[in-house]
Amino acid sequence: MLLPVIMAGGSGSRLWPLSRQLFPKQFLPLTGEQTMLQETCARLDGLDHQPPLIICGDDHRFTVAEQLREAKEGHSGIVLEPAGRNTAPAVALAALRATTGGESDPLLLVLAADHVIRDVAAFQDAVNKAIPHAEQGKLVTFGIVPTGPETGYGYIRRNADSGDTAFAVEEFVEKPDLATAEQYVASGDFYWNSGMFLFRASRYLEELKAHRPDMLAACEQSMTGAAIDIDFVRPSQESFLACPDDSIDYAVMEKTRDAVVVPMDCGWSDVGSWSALWEVSDKDDNGNTARGDVILQDSKGCYVQSDSKLIATVGLEDVVVVESDDAILVAAKDRVQDIKKVVNQLKAEN
Ligand code: GDD
Ligand code: MG
Repeated sequence: MLLPVIMAGGSGSRLWPLSRQLFPKQFLPLTGEQTMLQETCARLDGLDHQPPLIICGDDHRFTVAEQLREAKEGHSGIVLEPAGRNTAPAVALAALRATTGGESDPLLLVLAADHVIRDVAAFQDAVNKAIPHAEQGKLVTFGIVPTGPETGYGYIRRNADSGDTAFAVEEFVEKPDLATAEQYVASGDFYWNSGMFLFRASRYLEELKAHRPDMLAACEQSMTGAAIDIDFVRPSQESFLACPDDSIDYAVMEKTRDAVVVPMDCGWSDVGSWSALWEVSDKDDNGNTARGDVILQDSKGCYVQSDSKLIATVGLEDVVVVESDDAILVAAKDRVQDIKKVVNQLKAEN
């Protein structure tokens, strides 16, 4: 049976002003009634799985517990990182937790808490196809056919002759520069890394031992000193603070020789920006997405979201307007990546 591991510790800063440090995007209802975390749990329904293990920052423990309770989702524990050390240590804590006592060694289905997946059946189908490969000790990634040279993703080159449901990974390149990403997309040989993985807990720990023994040692020490507080698992702070910071993509996936990729065509988006959110949202006949109290006159291709005030636009094209209780964003839709700069400026001023 699968043990889903939901990584919910990111900051989602490009969705400012809605996504904030204390309330990042995974805890917001970005596309529907449910929050992204709740949707991540809900799309497991139908797979043969244990309740998910959630891994998040200590600051978010009550938000996570409350959102799971509200959605009536069970869980196998909430592991609280004393500080963010990125996803490689986060998954290591989960793998160590899952193998505690050495009796169990489940397949971990590692998921991000902040992805949109429109076709849940296709998602589950890909996961089911991946299971036999993970059972044979492979580290499975799920590949998305790229639609453009995005530099915020990992790129996976598959060996096209190595199978039909899963292909050997020839090369995994995390966040290439634009020129490289353009070449990759043009070649037709690459998938985007969806950021979801399936592997045996022990296989991940072995790979971490081979490539980042320093990280594994810090995580092991931290879990040896962990305190269990009803639902919450608290790794020891001192050892975890000493853990190096790195993502699973750089620390393990770029280095392992034992990865396979299973293609996944499921209407996936990591909604990393307002334009990505616009792309996956319902639109009117003029290609606008309006949320909340909004009137659009002669406007095209806009994303407009109001929290409490009425927003009216006239004659706008490809503009994003988002109102929250203490800030308003107005941005050109093709410049929304630069919202990070605003967030950095705000951080520097505070
Ligand atoms: N628990 C925990 N702790 N979760 C974390 C941490 C952490 O320190 N850092 C990030 N996360 C969570 C985020 O909330 C998100 O759900 C997931 O882990 C991935 O982290 P991101 O920070 O969003 O990664 P990314 O988008 O830059 O890149 C990854 O995802 C891309 C697809 O969206 C990589 O896997 C890329 O290769 C991939 O293409
Ligand atoms: Mg992401």
